[in-house]
Amino acid sequence: MTKTKVKMFVVLLCVTGIWVLRGHVSRMLSEYFSQLQDTYPCAFDKCLSEDDLWSMLHLNTSVEPFLSAQYNLSEDAFNWWKRLQAERHDFSTYKTTVDRLFEMFPSSPDVIKPSPDLCRSCAVVGNSGNLKQSRYGPLIDLHDVIIRINHGPTKGFEADVGTRTTHHVMYPESAVDLDNNTHLVLFPFKIQDLEWLIKAFSTGFTGRSYVPVKSNIKANKDLVMVINPAFMRYVHDMWLQKKGSYPSTGFMTLILALHICDEVRVFGYGADKYGNWNHYWEKLKDTKFKTGKHPGSHEYGIIEELAEKQKIMFFTGRRSFS
Ligand SMILES: *[C@@H]1O[C@H](CO)[C@@H](O)[C@H](O)[C@H]1NC(C)=O
Ligand SMILES: *[C@@H]1O[C@H](CO)[C@@H](O)[C@H](O)[C@H]1NC(C)=O
Ligand SMILES: *[C@@H]1O[C@H](CO)[C@@H](O)[C@H](O)[C@H]1NC(C)=O
Repeated sequence: MTKTKVKMFVVLLCVTGIWVLRGHVSRMLSEYFSQLQDTYPCAFDKCLSEDDLWSMLHLNTSVEPFLSAQYNLSEDAFNWWKRLQAERHDFSTYKTTVDRLFEMFPSSPDVIKPSPDLCRSCAVVGNSGNLKQSRYGPLIDLHDVIIRINHGPTKGFEADVGTRTTHHVMYPESAVDLDNNTHLVLFPFKIQDLEWLIKAFSTGFTGRSYVPVKSNIKANKDLVMVINPAFMRYVHDMWLQKKGSYPSTGFMTLILALHICDEVRVFGYGADKYGNWNHYWEKLKDTKFKTGKHPGSHEYGIIEELAEKQKIMFFTGRRSFS
């Protein structure tokens, strides 16, 4: 492919975005995309100059997405976090639990550092029914980082969602076993969730939660990462202007990707073509569910805005509207 063609393709991606892609179109895009990466480390770079002010108002790259042994959470951030799921234990309990956590898991998160000649590409794969028949699998599998969420399976859905998973986001109530080379990314919403992580990898967890919780988990202990409560607060404050009680895991995962990647492609978010918020692996049960206590439509608006301002590429799958 000549440089001019590559440039034209980049411009096409930048100017139009690609809304409806499936079957052979998705495969064609995968091919272009891999050739493109040989030529330019970061295809998106060409589009990032506009709307930087908007970005500056939301994105704060100094916020640490992950906890580490060296990081000290402020008491103020703890007090915000503890009301999410009515935590009754105090800040010192939090601190001793975190200390125990890092006796067992890596003391600093395994993230790829940014570098001028490196493009860290991320695919964030949500669980929306709009992935059905999307044939995004081959495109998703080309990314360096592939993040999946909660129960999101690949087995049996490879053509639409891909096969590789580098990071799997979960909380105790949504936990699934992982293979040996996938990072477990825990979103803690209470001290018990940190406790759960320790126990699920050792003696077994016997506590209770609002739904039954796995007592043990199969995953690589050396690849565990824990989200910083102050990061959750930042997403709520800066990205959602404090709307809703707190952001959904899916939305926080997308913002996480903006912090750890240079190029973010988003799949499986939003409603299906009938306006339902079902999962790609199941038949719709409750058509009135909407998005629970999270500010779903506001979050979706921000995702569309990010796509419009070319900070992400948003793949909406099979929808009859968009
Ligand atoms: C960005 O985050 C850092 C670290 O939490 C904080 O000190 C700083 O005030 C934040 N900047 C803005 C503009 O909010
Ligand atoms: C965190 O707090 C500990 C003890 O309170 C202190 O020794 C350490 O320097 C602090 N770390 C940072 C990064 O501020
Ligand atoms: C899992 O990966 C670790 C390195 O993170 C390695 O030491 C270990 O042998 C692997 N275990 C299996 C069962 O492949």
